[in-house]
Amino acid sequence: MSKSKDEQVLKLYEQLFEIEQRLIPTGLHVFGQASPQRERGDLLKMIAAFDRPEAGVNALPEEFADNAIREFVSNGTDAAVRHLEQYGVNAETSRPVFALLENVSTKLQTNNELDAIVRALRGEFIEPGPGADIVQNPDILPTGRNTHAINPYGVPSAVAFARGKIVADSLLNRYKEENGRYPQAMALVLWGLDNIKTQGEGVAQALWLLGVRPVRDALNRATNVEAISLADLGRPRIDVVMTVSGIFRDLFSPTVQLLDKAVRLVASLDEPQDQNYVRKHVREQMTQEQCDTDEAATRVFSNAPGNYGTNVNFMVMDSQWEREETLGDLFVTRKCFAYGRDSQGRAIEGREARIAMDRALSRVEATYQNIDTFEIGLTDVDHYFEYLGGVSKAVEKRAQARPAIYLSDSLSREVKIRTLEETVRLETRAKTLNPKWYEGMLRHGFRGVAEIENHVSNTFGWSATADAVDDWIYSEVANTFVFDESMLERLRDLNPHSAHALVQRLLEANGRGYWETDPDVLQRLQDISSDLEDQLEGVTP
Ligand code: BEZ
Ligand code: MG
Repeated sequence: MSKSKDEQVLKLYEQLFEIEQRLIPTGLHVFGQASPQRERGDLLKMIAAFDRPEAGVNALPEEFADNAIREFVSNGTDAAVRHLEQYGVNAETSRPVFALLENVSTKLQTNNELDAIVRALRGEFIEPGPGADIVQNPDILPTGRNTHAINPYGVPSAVAFARGKIVADSLLNRYKEENGRYPQAMALVLWGLDNIKTQGEGVAQALWLLGVRPVRDALNRATNVEAISLADLGRPRIDVVMTVSGIFRDLFSPTVQLLDKAVRLVASLDEPQDQNYVRKHVREQMTQEQCDTDEAATRVFSNAPGNYGTNVNFMVMDSQWEREETLGDLFVTRKCFAYGRDSQGRAIEGREARIAMDRALSRVEATYQNIDTFEIGLTDVDHYFEYLGGVSKAVEKRAQARPAIYLSDSLSREVKIRTLEETVRLETRAKTLNPKWYEGMLRHGFRGVAEIENHVSNTFGWSATADAVDDWIYSEVANTFVFDESMLERLRDLNPHSAHALVQRLLEANGRGYWETDPDVLQRLQDISSDLEDQLEGVTP
């Protein structure tokens, strides 16, 4: 039986609320320009939504936040404080948050980027500043400073470990809800910039899944790990295959060692195999393939030294493939280089280990990546599908089953784990098909149309690598950008190349079997594509 009407309405309400709550970037950053006033309100509201114990700031109560921020933007701190007092929020509680917002707001209204780059080109000193997400760390302002990263030996920080644990537990619970048991093995994508911003939340998640915690040496450096007891863990240790970006490998060399050490420690624990899937798999592989532990316990993979990226994105964008499994194979070809240390203590720095990677991926039941910024999501860049899509496609062939694919949204008020399909839907509704987003892009003219087309192509990347895009998404893209005559005219006038690419991508989605639609829809797309081609031939000599 279907759910009751009330339940359905509640579910719909929750989904609408979720879309409404998302911070939607409404335009591109223009180098050297302060952010426009209309964007400031939403950003300030998001900044005010988090407790910041380190700064003595409490989050604004959600139910009053909208009006309080509006009051703050129009009439300043005192007015906003008085406004909240009417609702019983006292001034001592609300002043610190408005002090923070005032500081952020002032810094957003000035911009030193052009001056700083000119001084940098003259070889002058540029003061340093942290690199992070603005909501997570407003101290990134003012921009136009020399962005610094973090000390890799500090990773994961205590806060990152605490949060990593919550996220990883939610992830395991979600899998268990859907499959009735824990996954025996998972593949995780780890990026450098993300782990800088969160001080290693992704690293912490991997350690927690394995059931270990970091141990600091006399210099307070995280150089070792210890096992958390099975009793404390209350679940089996999960086998974790880590594919790390080239940037991560370069920036977090000690962390790569820590992760590899963690796997080898867990493999060596004398525990029942149904409580320690790393040990189970390493043992099985050693028996079946007569290999040693060093080979069977390899789990940290990246590019060959000096190489970066998976190239899966380029293959998809250029339509240079026939069978989808080629995309997963390319991922493995690029990423099958092992890092860590063998049992003799010898460093392994990018040894080609294709067989070890094939074997490790063949057991994977779920893949996962963390999304930790409001600014860049699944369809904004081609890197999410090249990594998470690429590894999932590689697993699909090697495990002979499509893995469950998850993402976390670890910056929302509550930790939220979503399936890939749910995240694609949410991103599509919040961005690609949202007038607030695309009108913001179209204000940038030529580049804005290119961004819209990029979103459609990145969405297509999720069909190619993971079959994760519903038919309605392509249909609505066609309705919004192609079959609305005035919209098509705007796109064509601003950037006929991208308009044509967008129509072509829709046709490709149908041609490759990702979008079922009526023949007359296809005919109309083909006609429009021909018209655009004629126009392009006219404009290019
Ligand atoms: C990284 O931070 O590691 C990364 C950034 C962009 C694309 C791929 C990886
Ligand atoms: Mg489909």
